[in-house]
Formats: sequence, C-alpha cells, structure tokens
Amino acid sequence: MLGARCGWQALRCCSSLPRAVRLRVREALGAREPADEVKVQGWVRSVRAQKEVLFLHINDGSSLENLQVVADPSLENRDLTFGSAVEVEGKLVKSPHRMQNMELKAETIRVVGPCDTWLFPLKMKERHPLEYVRQFPHLRCRNNTLGSLLRIRSEATAAIHSFFQDNGYVHIHTPIITSNDCEGAGELFQIEASNEARESAEKTHFFNVPAFLTVSGQLHLEVMTGAFTHVFTFGPTFRAENSQSRRHLAEFYMVEAELSFTENLQDIMQVIEDLVKTATSTVLSKCPRDVELFHKYVAPAQKDRLEQMLKNKFVTISYNEAVEILKQASQTFTFKPEWGCDLQTEHEKYLVKHCGEVPVFVINYPYDLKPFYMRDNEDGPQRTVAAVDLLVPGIGELCGGSLREERLPFLESRLQRLGLADTYQWYLDLRKFGSVPHGGFGMGFERYLQYILGVDNIKDVIPFPRFSHSCLL
Ligand code: 4AD
Ligand code: MG
Repeated sequence: MLGARCGWQALRCCSSLPRAVRLRVREALGAREPADEVKVQGWVRSVRAQKEVLFLHINDGSSLENLQVVADPSLENRDLTFGSAVEVEGKLVKSPHRMQNMELKAETIRVVGPCDTWLFPLKMKERHPLEYVRQFPHLRCRNNTLGSLLRIRSEATAAIHSFFQDNGYVHIHTPIITSNDCEGAGELFQIEASNEARESAEKTHFFNVPAFLTVSGQLHLEVMTGAFTHVFTFGPTFRAENSQSRRHLAEFYMVEAELSFTENLQDIMQVIEDLVKTATSTVLSKCPRDVELFHKYVAPAQKDRLEQMLKNKFVTISYNEAVEILKQASQTFTFKPEWGCDLQTEHEKYLVKHCGEVPVFVINYPYDLKPFYMRDNEDGPQRTVAAVDLLVPGIGELCGGSLREERLPFLESRLQRLGLADTYQWYLDLRKFGSVPHGGFGMGFERYLQYILGVDNIKDVIPFPRFSHSCLL
C-alpha cells in the first residue's frame, strides 16, 4: 500500500499533473479567481447534512470568518463532527451567497483528528460567555472571541514595534532576571535554583545575591539611552501584587520607552499619545472584523469612544487640580481624596468621567508618592516630581512615566536618604559620565487591549488565564 502511494506521488511529481495548492482559509476567502485542486486544512465549526448536500464550515485561525465547504452527502463520515480537524481537497468556486466570496466544492474530505463532541466543552453555534471559556485555558483559543482577541493581540504587538522602529528607536531586550527593584514597591518575585540544581546546601543564592523577576526594564533602558538616545523594550513583567482585581496580573507585558535630550514632560506625553493613537489606528485597519466582534458583542459603546479618542487631543490636568476636582465631587469615595495620597482606581475613573470619558494625563505628583528616579520639580522643598500617568476610560491608569533625575547631587542625596546609595552606584555612574536630561514611560499592554476592546477583565486579554493559583498551565 505504502509502495503504491509513493509510486503515485512520484508519478505526480514527474508528470505535469498539478498538485493541490494549500490555501489558508483567509486566502481562500479573499481569492479573486476560482481555482481547481485546492487543499484547505482546519477545524470544523459546523456540520449541516441535507439530503442533497453536505455543508461544513471550517476555520484555521487565519480569520474570524469560516470557509464554507460544499460536498456530496456521500463524503459524510461518523468522525466528521464539530471540533474535528480536517483536510479538504477540491475546487474553489464563486459562492452564490451574498455574504461570502468563495466556497470550496469538496472532492475529498479527510478527518485528521476526530473530536468527541459530548466531551468537548465548546458547543456548535453557541456564543459562550468569556467567564465560561476562561475555565478551559487550553481550549478557549478555538472559540471566536478568543480567536479574534489573539489575532488582535498579535497585530497590536507588531504595530507597537513598528511605531518605535519607524521613529528611530532601538529595541533592547532588557533582563528578566535582575537584582533591581526599579519601582521600590517591594512587589517582587524572588527566584532561586531548585534544590536539585543547587551546587551545595550552604549556597544561599544562585547568583550570590538575591535575584528577582523584573518589575520594569526602565533602569536598563536608562543605561541604553545613554548610547542610543531613543530606546524601547516590550517584554514580560512580573508583580507579586496578589491582587484579584480586573486590571492586575502577576505576569503581564509592558511597553517601555526612554528618550535622551528631553527636558520637557510634554515631549514624553506626546510620544505616549502618538503611540496609543498610531497603534490603535493600525489595529483598527488591520483587523476590522475581529475588532467589530468586540465592539458589537462585548462593549457596544467602545467604537465611538475610540473614534473620539483618535480625533481629539488628550486632556492634561495637574495632580493638584485632580485632587481639587475629587474634593468637589458630589460622589462619596471609599478613599477620601487628600493631597499627598495616591489616586485610587475609583478616583481615576471619576477624573476620566469628569473630563468627558477621554484619556487624561495627570502630571506633577507629590515627591513622596513616587520612586527615587523621578525628577524633582523644585516647586517647594521636595514637593512634586515631573511624573505623568495616563488615565483612560473603563480602566484608569494605562501608562506611567516621568522625567528622570539626571542631576547627580539630587539623586545621590535621595538615594542616601533611602539607604540605597551603595546598591545604585552603577546608576549614579550614569549621572557622572555624560548625563543628559531624559525621561520615559511604561504602558501595560494588557490594559491597552482592555481599553481598545472594552474588555472588563484583564484575564480575558491574555493567551493563558490563571484563575487559580493551584494550576498553572
Ligand atoms: O506605573 P508603572 O509601575 O511604571 C513603571 O514600572 C515604570 N518604571 C515604567 C517606565 O517609566 N519605564 O507600570 C507601568 C504600567 C502601568 O501604568 C500599568 O498599565 C501596567 O504597567 N501595570 C500592570 N498591568 C497589569 N498588571 C499589573 N500588575 C500591572 N502593574 C502595572
Ligand atoms: Mg504607575
């Protein structure tokens, strides 16, 4: 049998018989011309057997739309069910249906991998709620909503990289294992070698010093901005916040940029605004159908909000103004707004609403609230720093950034007061050798996706949700 098959294949190779051309579903749907001898592989999204004809819809993840396969009922087989993996060969023809361009007239259908529909948690033609599919992190990518989300996530990643590359930034891979606690908030995951991998029981740390998963690549970017002027990084970031909120993750992706020869916070804010607008327009134009699914079924108001966002300039208020607005609010807050206290999510959401449900920059925060690297505004003894947070509708804080303290004496005395001068000798060196005014920011990638798509729970914008600490896929 094997010999016969090889012989037949050899005959095909040597003769001028055309081999079936393999097409992705997206290519097949977008084809301009009919074609003979086409092969499409994918998973069955629906099966409908009529007396005269068998209809299949198959999807291979290349688009939200399925390809309709039309076949003779004799090709039906017991394993051809919802969820099974198939390979279909036949002719690509113009579809008589208004809603689709092309369909595949099957000549052969091979079930590559059957699927037990009773046990399979996804069901044919059901619009499963996000909460339901979250229970199946290993299978939910075969659902339409998550399929669209992950294609959008992929396009948004590319759009962010292109934005920086097109604007002359150098991409830097900053370390994931580090001994820095950049934000100084103590939300660190400490890492050690497993007991088996340890050289000796006496050795306390693998690297001889405590090592952590990174909370931000900023300090490493500051090193690089001293040579490349404009740099960015976009990688995994870890915070041991143990918060079960709808906008916190222990592992998330952060986009960070750092710019040298920058004296003005407005310049940093301009980059943030350009990044958010450019990435969003690119995603809207590259995956309109995927975005439409969210704007139709998940967050109907989001489409208008984004159009407004793209058209208008972001609003800017100072921290002082923000506190005044909050104090005058008729709403009562769980946390009473006071100058010197951090803005809570409830405050951030109120400020965004107050400003007309548009993105709002809040600038110049109290000195004592912010990490050691932020630049003193010198508007009073250690009163405010040149910090900026971008707040967006539905989410609250999307980006955080600042001018960095580039003046050696200021930085040295702040680090000494914090007892960190020894740890950060290398960072002080950056202020000794060719120091320049500089600044940068970080944007939470998952929060960005939540914002543009109107997704309420951050666990629904990551490929693998962790809804319990007992099972990590
Ligand atoms: O405001 P953050 O803590 O800023 C920094 O880490 C700076 N060093 C960045 C820089 O200037 N280069 O974090 C930046 C953004 C936040 O605004 C938020 O969007 C996101 O990262 N973020 C989180 N996203 C999901 N889950 C968490 N636990 C997050 N913590 C921060
Ligand atoms: Mg922040």
